[in-house]
Amino acid sequence: MKKHIAIIMDGNGRWAEAQGKKRVKGHERGAEVVREITTFCSNQKDIDRLTLYAFSTENWKRPKYEVDFLMKLLNSWLKKELPVYLENSVRFEAIGDISAFSNNLQNTIKDVQKKTAHCTGLVQSLALNYGSKNEIVRAVNSLIANNIEINEDSLDKALDVSQSVDILIRSGGEQRLSNYLLWQSAYAEIFFSDTLWPDFSTNELQSILKNFEQIHRRFGGL
Ligand code: IPE
Ligand code: IPE
Ligand code: MG
Repeated sequence: MKKHIAIIMDGNGRWAEAQGKKRVKGHERGAEVVREITTFCSNQKDIDRLTLYAFSTENWKRPKYEVDFLMKLLNSWLKKELPVYLENSVRFEAIGDISAFSNNLQNTIKDVQKKTAHCTGLVQSLALNYGSKNEIVRAVNSLIANNIEINEDSLDKALDVSQSVDILIRSGGEQRLSNYLLWQSAYAEIFFSDTLWPDFSTNELQSILKNFEQIHRRFGGL
């Protein structure tokens, strides 16, 4: 059984502020950690999906400067990542409602999706303008529009991600889900880490994976 790991990458701003830097410097460093963690996961045979929370439907509330910075960073970062995805056979996929982004950014996202569509290794899903509530409402509306009966299976398939989450990690010390993969995490094992995302490492992920292996997942049975 291959694993789906989902991560709420929190703590970038605090990491930067602790060093007397601007918050956005934390996002830059955080993006480097994304590459490290993705490469690690792509080399693990038992992990087939990594879903990373990069921008929530609530993050528009941040100052314009920070939102603009994140959009620019995402655009340049995706272009830079393309050869790395191809090298590791990683398929990139965006989840969330990207129609709210500029045409330029949407085109970059679609381009990287298209150019990695043939990759058969890890799927790296970036949650962009993603919120679980928004995702569920979009899914229900699409079922109604197509006259499909709403049940657990059909709703599952209509969501941006259908594969249930096995391991949900939140860095940055907060113990909440912040509207992330609520449906898919119904039976996820949840790991909260105090490490700020820019300091998160493959070592820490390996220790979480080790702990996960010790858990007896009952799914309501015995
Ligand atoms: C998470 O780090 C990254 C995004 C939400 C884009 P934060 O920016 O939330 O960092 P903190 O939580 O303020 O430290
Ligand atoms: C969650 O972090 C969103 C992302 C990591 C992209 P936030 O920093 O936005 O969450 P809250 O506001 O602390 O709940
Ligand atoms: Mg935060």
